[in-house]
Amino acid sequence: MASIGIVGTGFVADYYMRSLATVPEVTVVGAWDIDRDRLHAFRKYWRVPAAASLDDLIGRRPDLILNLTNPGSHYAVSLACLEAGLPVYSEKPLATRLDDARHLHRIATERGVMLASAPCSALGESAQTVWKALRERVIGTPRLVYAEIDDGFLIRAPHTTWRSESGAPWPVQDELAVGCALQHAGYYLTWLIAMFGSVTRVASASADVLGLTLADGSAAAPTYACASLFFESGMVARLTCSVVAPHDHSLRIFGDEGILEVAECWSNESAVRVRRRHVVRRRLIDSPLTRRLRIKTPTHAKVRRKGVTAMNFALGPQEMLAARAEGRASRLDADLALHLTEVALAIQTAGNATGHQVIASRAGAVAPMPWALV
Ligand SMILES: NC(=O)c1ccc[n+]([C@@H]2O[C@H](COP(=O)([O-])OP(=O)(O)OC[C@H]3O[C@@H](n4cnc5c(N)ncnc54)[C@H](O)[C@@H]3O)[C@@H](O)[C@H]2O)c1
Repeated sequence: MASIGIVGTGFVADYYMRSLATVPEVTVVGAWDIDRDRLHAFRKYWRVPAAASLDDLIGRRPDLILNLTNPGSHYAVSLACLEAGLPVYSEKPLATRLDDARHLHRIATERGVMLASAPCSALGESAQTVWKALRERVIGTPRLVYAEIDDGFLIRAPHTTWRSESGAPWPVQDELAVGCALQHAGYYLTWLIAMFGSVTRVASASADVLGLTLADGSAAAPTYACASLFFESGMVARLTCSVVAPHDHSLRIFGDEGILEVAECWSNESAVRVRRRHVVRRRLIDSPLTRRLRIKTPTHAKVRRKGVTAMNFALGPQEMLAARAEGRASRLDADLALHLTEVALAIQTAGNATGHQVIASRAGAVAPMPWALV
């Protein structure tokens, strides 16, 4: 039986508890949150023991700490746990500043303590099916990736009514302060890094196209970011994140022999399809028909949750615990967590000032057609 301690019992902690229910050999030895009311509601709903403080939780010496606090607290909480010699699985991002992420990585590496960060969906069925198809050259040589993580026009969504299972409100202010790219780019970045290796260059632009001011008077983080990612393997990917354009979580990988497609990165069971090209009457056609690819062996436990996310959030913690028990390296490790954070920060913080080329020419005003003015 492996033991887990949870820090941060807000919205996402319920996703973890529902996912951990698929892993009977793991037990929660304590949960801690600075918000006592939230901690009480969580403890009561899930029937887990509450800790009196972070030190109290650390003192219970769980095999793994899940850091599910808001991104702004990730660094301090993870640091305290790592310094106490406890392995940490952190929600993403590892930290909101690159220096802090590097420091966590250094402490973990120097002390030989395991550290990893979410997301873990790269270990899930859809991602693994895509990766297997690439290894088996189902689309021949892959040439280009388009990945979209658009979440609809968030500020008009009824987000004030969104509640987690144990009643935590969805933290919209924090989501907008942290930014959609830092929050979400990882859902496809982790897949792409697993399949194509490290990213060596990022050319990105980002902006808050909604002009939002947060409740505390500060400006929101970018609500749109679009990056071209250059991988050391030679692969190139375009990744878009926004909370403006209609919901689109699709991945398309274009290869010499066809296209691999996934519709949703927030489901472990999203269908993976291959689309072939045909020449019909001197035209190149992407076939209207697709073939679904499946892994035939049993994969992993599914959390068949209704709503936007149908991911098993326990796959990451499970992988770390299994690696520890088996004395092997974890598929999710500190190097990956740091790399993911560095790339996501590069995508989000680009603004309109990095990697841009100044355009000297200007276009004159183009008059509308007269018939469009009446
Ligand atoms: N909300 C989602 O849909 C969602 C989905 C996937 C991942 N995540 C990630 O999960 C993390 C948490 O997000 P959330 O939506 O659960 O936020 P939340 O605000 O609902 O919950 C975070 C909890 O952490 C607590 N907390 C903050 N600092 C703390 C500290 N120093 N010590 C102890 N407790 C502390 C807060 O009081 C709060 O209860 C974020 O990294 C986010 O990116 C969120």
